[in-house]
Amino acid sequence: MTPGFSSRTGWNLEESGLSAEVRSAKEQGRPLIDLTLSNPTACGFDFDADAILSPLQNRAALTYDPDPRGIPSARAAVARYYADHGSKVDPAHIILTTSTSEAYSFLFRLLADPGDHVLVAQPSYPLFDFLAALDDVELRPYPLFYDFGWWIDLAELERRITSRTRAILLVHPNNPTGHATAPAERVQLEAICERHALALIVDEVFLDYVLTEPIRSFATGPHRCLTFVVSGISKIAALPQMKVGWLAAFGPEALRTQALARLEVIADTFLSMNAPAQHALGAWLAGRQAIQQQLLQRIHANLAALAAAAHLSWLPVQAGWSAVLQLPQHAASESTSGSQAKSLAETLVQEAGLVVHPASFYAMAGAHRVVVSLIVPEAVFSAGIRKLTEWCISRGLSAAGGS
Ligand SMILES: Cc1ncc(COP(=O)(O)O)c(C=O)c1O
Repeated sequence: MTPGFSSRTGWNLEESGLSAEVRSAKEQGRPLIDLTLSNPTACGFDFDADAILSPLQNRAALTYDPDPRGIPSARAAVARYYADHGSKVDPAHIILTTSTSEAYSFLFRLLADPGDHVLVAQPSYPLFDFLAALDDVELRPYPLFYDFGWWIDLAELERRITSRTRAILLVHPNNPTGHATAPAERVQLEAICERHALALIVDEVFLDYVLTEPIRSFATGPHRCLTFVVSGISKIAALPQMKVGWLAAFGPEALRTQALARLEVIADTFLSMNAPAQHALGAWLAGRQAIQQQLLQRIHANLAALAAAAHLSWLPVQAGWSAVLQLPQHAASESTSGSQAKSLAETLVQEAGLVVHPASFYAMAGAHRVVVSLIVPEAVFSAGIRKLTEWCISRGLSAAGGS
């Protein structure tokens, strides 16, 4: 007899068409230009090693004195981060987690029973599917649409609310569309949450990577409904390896107090934060500007390279680390025709030695759209964009040009 496995782990673990294409190119020794690189520790940035590593020597970390919400000095450091964004956050309303992903998991367990629903924007970040499945929560998409910018289809969102819906999830600014929720949309979203007794979960990991005008954090009140803002240093300080995230709770006092008391029990059950990272958090957050500047410079330079490419068109980017490129529709239909239908991303690996994410990876409509990372080293990015342009020309394709 072999042991059984849970149905929640019954994933399709087969290699995707794109991964197979990349593997085969590597096996054949074909050079690849990877425009999906988004690990900031592997993109050639100049990290201040002493400033990052010396706070880990704090002798206070020799004592085990856990606080389920996170040690007070670390929560105070997170509150200072929000103060820099003009938001007054009480450290007592913050819970530290080992990542934004863990913060989501705590919130799903807080808000939803097995089979309950959380509404999530489409297109958006794909990891949610796995997080929700592991916590037995059903994700139900609500559509964003593109019309001179991305917008929430609020009427459709409200239609998708059922008696089992517990929360609305929002990425602000969104990944990969790079757009922020408009202030008027926030008002309407909060009204919907109030009307249907739902919580609002707002992921702000890209809040600091703003390319146009500043974006207001949802930590800034007033809060009409129970609201949780999640974030972490994997993007804010470009330190994903240090594993620090958090959630901050806002909204009607009685509800927030209850939520925090329950979250404290969830956090206490795991006590997953390690002491050295908590003691170092203040220094890491205080040093974030230097690394953010480098990333922002890179993002601007790569956008300039895109702007200089005559044959490419892309959607405007307000914030974040990604851009959505739009290749001619013809390119997509060429690559999906024929006996062995391939996605545009697979064709690009095979014919141009280019690795990009297909729009479908983010549940985005448009087989002619691909997503690239804007934190790829500049020389690699320019070479990739040149290759993409040559590929378009070689296929007799000419796009509208410019965004
Ligand atoms: C929108 C969004 N939220 C959360 C995460 C994950 O963050 P963490 O490393 O803190 O789990 C990512 C990672 O790319 C992301 O894009």
